[in-house]
Amino acid sequence: MAETKKIAVIAGDGIGPEVVAEAEKVLQKVGEVFGYSFETEHALFGGIAIDEKGTPLPAETLEVCKRADAVLLGAVGGPKWDNNSKELRPETGLLGIRKELGLFSNLRPAVVFDCLKDASTLKPEVLEGTDLMVVRELTGGIYFGEKFRRETEYGEEAVDTCAYNVTEVERIARQAFDIAMKRRKKLASVDKANVLETSRLWRETVIRVSADYPEVELEHVLVDNCAMQLLRRPSSFDVIVTENMFGDILSDEAAMLTGSIGMLASASLGEGSYGLYEPVHGSAPDIAGQGLANPIATILSTALMLRISFGYGEAADAIERAVAEVLDAGHRTSDIAAGRVEALSTKQMGELILKAIRK
Ligand code: NAI
Ligand code: MG
Repeated sequence: MAETKKIAVIAGDGIGPEVVAEAEKVLQKVGEVFGYSFETEHALFGGIAIDEKGTPLPAETLEVCKRADAVLLGAVGGPKWDNNSKELRPETGLLGIRKELGLFSNLRPAVVFDCLKDASTLKPEVLEGTDLMVVRELTGGIYFGEKFRRETEYGEEAVDTCAYNVTEVERIARQAFDIAMKRRKKLASVDKANVLETSRLWRETVIRVSADYPEVELEHVLVDNCAMQLLRRPSSFDVIVTENMFGDILSDEAAMLTGSIGMLASASLGEGSYGLYEPVHGSAPDIAGQGLANPIATILSTALMLRISFGYGEAADAIERAVAEVLDAGHRTSDIAAGRVEALSTKQMGELILKAIRK
C-alpha cells in the first residue's frame, strides 16, 4: 500500500456538494483499483461558512488545507450572499485561500472529446485532436500592481501598473516546461514583447529557462496572434504559458473550444507538489439541488490532482479513460445532451464513470 495522501475536501455552495460527492467516490474507487490510500477531511468554505461561522474562510478551514497534501474544491457563491459586504462574500474567501496557500499558477486543460465535437461553436474538423493546457500566472502582473487615480490637465486619470520580477517569471516558466515534458513537449510562451517591457523580461527569462529543457520545442507567440491561432489551429497547441491578464482571457477562450463549462477542470499550484483542484464552473444556483449538474469537471479535476500532486499518472489516465468511454457510449448530462438523448442525473453519470474505472 502506498503512503496515505491527505485531501482537504471543500464542497462549498450550490452544486458544489453534488459534484464533489461524485468525485470523492471516484477517488475511493481509484484507491481500491490501484492500491492507493486517501484520507479526506471536510471543511467549510464560502457561503455555507459565512452562514455557520461568520466568515468565508474560517481559520480551521485554512488549517485543514495546510495539513493536507492537496485540496479538492467544489464551488462557492450564490445570490444569498451577493449583497454582503466584501469581508462577508464567498469570492473574498476564494482570493484569500489562493493567497494563503501560495498558489501562483493556474492550469486549465482544454480537451475536446471526439464525441462532443458538435457541442462547440467551432467546426468539428478544426477541433479534431485538440488537447491543450493553459498555464496562467496567478499572483502577479497588472491585477496586483499599484493602482491609483490622479488629476491631470486633461481631467481625472486612472493608472494600473504591470510589474513582473524575474523570480516570478522563472518559477511559472519552470512549471510550464515541467508540464510540457510530461505531455507532447511543446510550449508556447505568450507575451506582447513588441510593446511591453514586462513581456521583454518574460521572454528573456523563458529563453534562459529553456536551456534546461532542450527537449521542449519552444515558440513565442504574441498575445493577439495567439487569440487568433487558438481559433484557427487549436490542435497544434500543447502547453501555453502566459502572464496573469493574458491568461485570464486566453483560458476562457480556450475553454470555449470544448463546448460546456461542465467539462472543464483546473488546478492551482504553488512551489512543490501541493495544489488546489476545482472545476472551472461556479455554484450554478439555477440548477442546484436538482441533481442536474455535470460532475465531469470535478472528476477530471481529481484526475489532475492524482497526476500533478501525487504522481499517480496511471490512475489519472484511468479516470480520463473512464470519462471518455462513458461519453463515447452516448451518455450525457443535460448540459451536453443537446436535447438529443435523455439526460442523466449527477449521480447516474458519477456511477457510470465509477464503473468504467479499471487498470
Ligand atoms: P456558473 O458556472 O455557476 O453557471 C453558469 C451556467 O452554467 C449556469 O447556467 C449553470 O447552470 C451552468 N453550469 C455550471 N456548471 C455546470 C455543471 N457542472 N453542469 C451543468 N451546468 C452547469 O457561473 P455563474 O452563474 O456566473 O455563477 C454562479 C455563482 O458561482 C456566483 O455566485 C459566482 O460568483 C460563483 N462562481 C464561483 C466560482 C468558484 O467557486 N471558483 C467560479 C465562478 C463562479
Ligand atoms: Mg476569467
